Amino acid sequence: MVLQNLPCFLLFSLVFVPSLVFSWKQNDQFNQAKNYEGSSDFVNLEYHMGPVLASPINLYIIWYGHWNPSQQATIRDFLYSFSSPAAYPSVADWWKTVRLYTDQTGSNITGSVNLSGEFSDFKYSHGGYLGRLDIQSIIKTAVTSYRGLPLNPHNGLYLVLTSHDVQVQDFCRAVCGFHYFSFPTIVGVTVPYAWVGYSGTQCPGMCAYPFAWPQYSGKPPPRGNEGGGILKAPNGDVGVDGMISVIAHELAEVSSNPLVNAWYAGDDPTAPTEIADLCLGVYGSGGGGGYVGKVYKDSWGNGFNVNGVKGRKFMVQWVWNPLRRRCYGPNAMD
Ligand SMILES: *[C@@H]1O[C@H](CO)[C@@H](O)[C@H](O)[C@H]1NC(C)=O
Ligand SMILES: *[C@@H]1O[C@H](CO)[C@@H](O)[C@H](O)[C@H]1NC(C)=O
Repeated sequence: MVLQNLPCFLLFSLVFVPSLVFSWKQNDQFNQAKNYEGSSDFVNLEYHMGPVLASPINLYIIWYGHWNPSQQATIRDFLYSFSSPAAYPSVADWWKTVRLYTDQTGSNITGSVNLSGEFSDFKYSHGGYLGRLDIQSIIKTAVTSYRGLPLNPHNGLYLVLTSHDVQVQDFCRAVCGFHYFSFPTIVGVTVPYAWVGYSGTQCPGMCAYPFAWPQYSGKPPPRGNEGGGILKAPNGDVGVDGMISVIAHELAEVSSNPLVNAWYAGDDPTAPTEIADLCLGVYGSGGGGGYVGKVYKDSWGNGFNVNGVKGRKFMVQWVWNPLRRRCYGPNAMD
């Protein structure tokens, strides 16, 4: 876990509330000024003998709350892009770095990520204010509802996405998303899952970087490519485009550390630094310290760094490459 530029009360809670771990914390990237593209000198990523997600992943989305079809289509297309060909550099090319992680059986993380089912919890079955464990209850509801999702403990991965009007414990204060695994007492089985919230109205400056910038950060906005200012969102929705980078982050980490006993840095398993935490805020060569790095702009001037299906463009943060021992993505210049 990388400590961040947050007020003391947040640091306090990061240390003392175990459920705050395994989370994507937007403000970490402000602390990387001297850490261009990560640094092999200080990173001690270790394997702790647990499994990685080596079997083809069946991904199930739970849309919690109110989602509009165009938001859903963008996120769906992003997820379809993991295993489908697209122009280089593609989402699947980005995933190749994640695939470099293996477990003790020598199995790599899978290249097959299939969107296998979706469930709309449009009735807000667990209300509009959710605690951490409520995410597991939402999964339970989705797998026990009429026409619900299958409960797949073999190679299922559940992605709970909460809409703009849903508040989640620590969302927008300390985290933008997290991953963990379910408890049999709540869901019936142990299965990995991730949650990501829509931040477009609640806290774009915190969770939709680099398409929005927190005024309270006390630092200038990131330099998007050569020009100044923040980047324009490639799919026209700051909240959704910001979520996509958080979803990418969480999928990389849940795949390499699904039971929180595989790949992470740091001595404390309740506060691990995982393969995407190491590269927060880095989207291209030279990135770090509030500069996204070398990324592309489409003909409308929107920022992106990978291509997806149907000509879509996305912006995803880099992840730690264990062979190069630095943050890396397919849009790297070297
Ligand atoms: C599996 O991981 C090893 C070790 O990082 C790597 O050398 C190999 O290329 C990976 N295989 C795939 C298919 O990514
Ligand atoms: C992928 O998911 C679809 C449903 O979206 C399903 O019909 C198909 O069988 C799945 N493919 C694999 C290889 O699991």
